[in-house]
Amino acid sequence: MAKRPGLFVTFEGGEGAGKSTQIRHLADSLRRRGHDVLVTREPGGSPGAEAVRHVILSGAAEEFGVRMEAILFAAARNDHVEEVIRPALQAGVIVLCDRFMDSSRVYQGVTGNLEADYLEALQRVAVAGVVPDCTIIMDLSAEKGLARARSRGGDAAPDRFEREEVQTHEKRREAYLEIAAADPGRCHVVDADRASDDIAKDILAIVEPLAGPESSSVPNDVETVE
Ligand code: TYD
Repeated sequence: MAKRPGLFVTFEGGEGAGKSTQIRHLADSLRRRGHDVLVTREPGGSPGAEAVRHVILSGAAEEFGVRMEAILFAAARNDHVEEVIRPALQAGVIVLCDRFMDSSRVYQGVTGNLEADYLEALQRVAVAGVVPDCTIIMDLSAEKGLARARSRGGDAAPDRFEREEVQTHEKRREAYLEIAAADPGRCHVVDADRASDDIAKDILAIVEPLAGPESSSVPNDVETVE
C-alpha cells in the first residue's frame, strides 16, 4: 500500500505524565521548521466526539459497564478519525493526538478487563485503517503521575478515570510498556521523569526525521482543536 501523506503521531501514558505540555512543545518546534501541524485529543477532537467525551468522563456511562464505555470511546474515535484526522493527513498535515487507540487497549482492555477480541473488533471499526505512524509513550511511575495530576487539578473534582488507585495506574504503566515492546517500529518509550526541555529534545529527535520536508506551500498553520 502506498504511504499516505501527512504524519500521524499519538501521545500515550498515564495521568500526569506531561503529554499535553510535550505536545505543545513539539507542535511549536515543528511549526517553527515550517510544518503544518494539527493538535488534537481523545476522547474528543471533533464536535461529535466532544459530545461523547462529556458522557464518558462524567461517569454517566460507568454503570452500564466496560463494553458500553468501550463502544462510546470507539464511536468518538471513528468520528474524530473521519471528520478530522484522515482529512488532515490527506492534506499533508502532521497530526499530534493526545491519546488514541492504545488508551483503549490499556484502560478498557487491561484495567477494564474487556475481552481482547471484542476490543480489537471495535478498534478496527474505530480507526478504519488510520493507524499512528509513531506513538510516544510517556513513562512515569504511578505515584509521581498521580501526584502531578492531583496538584494540577486544584479543587476540581477528579474525573471518572482519575479516581482510581495507584495499583491500577501501575498496571496501566506496565501495559503501555508491553504495547511498546510488541510494536517497537511504531512505539517509543520516553522517560517522563526529567526536565521538560530534555524530554522535548528527545521527542523532537524521534519525530523530526519522520516529518519529511517542510510543507512551505501552505503558509498558515492549521488551527488547534482543543
Ligand atoms: P483527560 O481529561 O483527557 O485526561 P488525560 O489528561 O489523562 O489525557 O481524560 C481522558 C481519560 O479517558 C483518561 O483517564 C484516559 C481515558 N481514556 C480511556 O479510558 N480510553 C480511551 O480510549 C481514551 C482515549 C481515554
